[in-house]
Amino acid sequence: MTILLLGSGGREHALAWKMLQSSKCSKLFVAPGNAGTASIATNIPIDPCDFIAIKTFVLQEEINMVVVGPEDPLVLGIYDFFKNDIFLKEIPVIGPSLLGAQLEGSKEFAKQFLVRHNIPTAAYDSFTAETVEKGCQFLETLQPPFVLKADGLAAGKGVLIIQDLAEAKTELRNMLVHSKFGAASAKVVIEEFLDGIELSCFVLTDGKNYKILPTAKDYKRIGDGDTGLNTGGMGAVSPVPFADEILLEKIETRIVKPTIEGFQKDGIEYKGFVFIGLINVKGEPIVIEYNVRMGDPETEVVMPRIKSDLVELFEAVANQKLDKVTLEIDERSATTIMIVSGGYPEEYEKGFQISGLENIEDSIAFHAGTKLENGKVVTNGGRVIALTSYGNDFQEAIKKSYQNIEKLHFDKMYYRKDIGNDL
Ligand code: AMP
Ligand code: GLY
Repeated sequence: MTILLLGSGGREHALAWKMLQSSKCSKLFVAPGNAGTASIATNIPIDPCDFIAIKTFVLQEEINMVVVGPEDPLVLGIYDFFKNDIFLKEIPVIGPSLLGAQLEGSKEFAKQFLVRHNIPTAAYDSFTAETVEKGCQFLETLQPPFVLKADGLAAGKGVLIIQDLAEAKTELRNMLVHSKFGAASAKVVIEEFLDGIELSCFVLTDGKNYKILPTAKDYKRIGDGDTGLNTGGMGAVSPVPFADEILLEKIETRIVKPTIEGFQKDGIEYKGFVFIGLINVKGEPIVIEYNVRMGDPETEVVMPRIKSDLVELFEAVANQKLDKVTLEIDERSATTIMIVSGGYPEEYEKGFQISGLENIEDSIAFHAGTKLENGKVVTNGGRVIALTSYGNDFQEAIKKSYQNIEKLHFDKMYYRKDIGNDL
């Protein structure tokens, strides 16, 4: 079958790499893709949020399935766009409906869903510009640090964790009254701070049945020792060594099952990935967020650990027969190190030539922000290459990635040197 994958990051290169291992995938297009996807599939210059252009392309190329990488097209309702179009409605979209995508599109919607279905999450309240003074009073009842979350999508920047009460009140006003994050902070969720270690659980669901994919942990801060600004993610490890049987059992019974049952009770159509962000507080898993897509760079370690045919799994999702297929997981560890452009996550330059990719041995270079220019691979984003390796344990895998990074070069290249050191 002919498949269209939307997106352009390391996540999409990893999804493309995995789908192309399936005998069921005869042709793969990626919109818009990067230099990595161009080397294995066909890139097309279409914006994943331009549904009209996607429709024209899908009909012209007789696409049989659309797989959505990033959240924006999902939150804009690409699933419903296909479902409500007489020419597109038979073509499966792997991703949740508009309503389901609200789990990522609105923090308040997600919190209400969690509370309604008795899924463990931090205590919270939400406020608007009209209730900003009430919000300040609510802050006074909490212990620091204070967690403020812009309700809408804010490109991963909408969460503030603040020690000082006065500063928290100022930031609350900035968000609600002075639109610090634009429309995304017209509403703000204030949440109890949870002290523990983070991990992510990935689920593939057809809305009724589910498969739990390998767990992963990502490294969000730019600097070694978890210092400096937040990024999209600087590295990832799968499986998560501290996620033992007991913790996984709790995650499944207290969180995954009630989430999928919640979709059914609420009439939410959901055929895609659920990414559950968790904090392990003294052995008790608590949800901090839902995302309605795979994580990046988590996909670059989760996909390599799936042995089953991903396209077959997607077909089962589309036909609501996920209970009829098995999910086989590779026992090995996988780790990825993200190589970024100097300056990221703030200002950085693009267009530097990347050399040494051909010398990588026993690791996989998933491209993130790259593009082809006159036949050369050049940097085209903050996060540039995710270098993934396998190992019998995560230490062995990490060592391989670091050995291979030595062979790569581009101007102002930077990466964290301490991925996995905390485990
Ligand atoms: P989110 O966008 O909800 O994942 O939040 C971004 C980051 O903020 C998370 O990865 C956590 O590190 C942190 N965070 C979010 N909510 C909380 C919380 N209630 N307690 C502690 N840290 C949190
Ligand atoms: N790595 C975190 C995310 O994809 O949201």
